[in-house]
Amino acid sequence: MEKYDLTIIIPTFNERDNIENIVESVSGVMHDAGIITEVLVVDDNSDDGTIEKVREMQEKYSNLELIVRYDDHGLSQSVTEGFYKAKADIIQVIDADFSHPPKMIPEFYTSVAQDGNDVVIGSRYLKGGDIENWPLKRRLISLGATFFGRILFPEITDPVSGFFAIKRDVIKNAVMKPRGYKILMEVLGKGHWYQAKEIPFVFKDREEGDSKLKLSTIIDYILQCIDIAVYSFKHHETNVWQEWKKIFKFAAVGISGIFVNVGLLYFLTEYFGIFYLISSLIAIETSIITNFILNDLWTFKGNESRFSKKWHRFVSFQFVSVMGVLINMGILWALTEFAGLYYVISNLFGIGAAFAWNFLVNRNITWKKI
Ligand code: GDD
Ligand code: MN
Repeated sequence: MEKYDLTIIIPTFNERDNIENIVESVSGVMHDAGIITEVLVVDDNSDDGTIEKVREMQEKYSNLELIVRYDDHGLSQSVTEGFYKAKADIIQVIDADFSHPPKMIPEFYTSVAQDGNDVVIGSRYLKGGDIENWPLKRRLISLGATFFGRILFPEITDPVSGFFAIKRDVIKNAVMKPRGYKILMEVLGKGHWYQAKEIPFVFKDREEGDSKLKLSTIIDYILQCIDIAVYSFKHHETNVWQEWKKIFKFAAVGISGIFVNVGLLYFLTEYFGIFYLISSLIAIETSIITNFILNDLWTFKGNESRFSKKWHRFVSFQFVSVMGVLINMGILWALTEFAGLYYVISNLFGIGAAFAWNFLVNRNITWKKI
């Protein structure tokens, strides 16, 4: 059996007009780069002649493989089947319709083979990346969709990209539930990886006009996010679990802050005879400071923040905390006044929203990795 450096998976469904060009283009690029490549087309039983075209080309390309699938139609399922049939230890996935530039594949390959990355992702949202010909509406939908993915994988700007490379080991023993279009999310959520890298690229869309995005697609996607979140609770070796640990630690620190706050309020008022509103101000500020110290030393330990100076991080944290208090009070007020909720219940919603705000903004700004 021939030994390949790389397997390129091209999922296809009715790609008669593209298949020849993409196989040729990919093969040319890999030949020039001197990377020995298996090209694996995974087709969902297209009836437009795609399969016949591939069979024809197989006479000329000895490295061209074809899988025709008859059951369980779907992009993610097809790519997953490709993962298991790939002969090389490094796998690249690329669309057939030239949305993803083939000439970038050698860069992805080197990034895995030589720079030690387990996953390399082509990102539309990293600086330098873009989407050509997309109307504002579709951009907004797509940004909204990536939002949930970014909560699970905060360091990754495009967790739903269809253009990526992985080491085969990443998915070797992973229990994947491939559904829909977002196979990369499944790989990131269930696979075993340590180091990921993103490379910006410009996505070229083939069609004009409306997105094929249906409500059911959005629901599927949200269910997929939840499934990954739940999975990570049972399988602590995933990267998502690392994220959960941060959330728990952040919450624990927040609770410690309540003790500092209440304790100091009582202590200063009762033993030092300070007016309780003044005591409260001191207590609030002190708890912000102790929260900061604990988060800096514990919750986000090891995050090389882009704010390299501690006091920069503190200023950011302070600002976020004050905003958090305002969010808490704003929701308390609005739900009580306008929704008629009992104020203690309103306050619970306020606390929840402020917690989400505090965690997300501090996670992604104050302690964001460079
Ligand atoms: N085997 C198989 N089965 N292939 C499919 C199927 C399917 O059910 N549906 C689509 N494909 C193939 C297409 O033939 C094409 O090569 C590739 O998958 C992408 O399909 P498009 O329909 O062109 O996708 P898109 O342009 O809307 O979506 C792109 O963006 C997404 C992120 O927003 C793709 O790059 C997706 O991979 C990506 O997730
Ligand atoms: Mn496309």
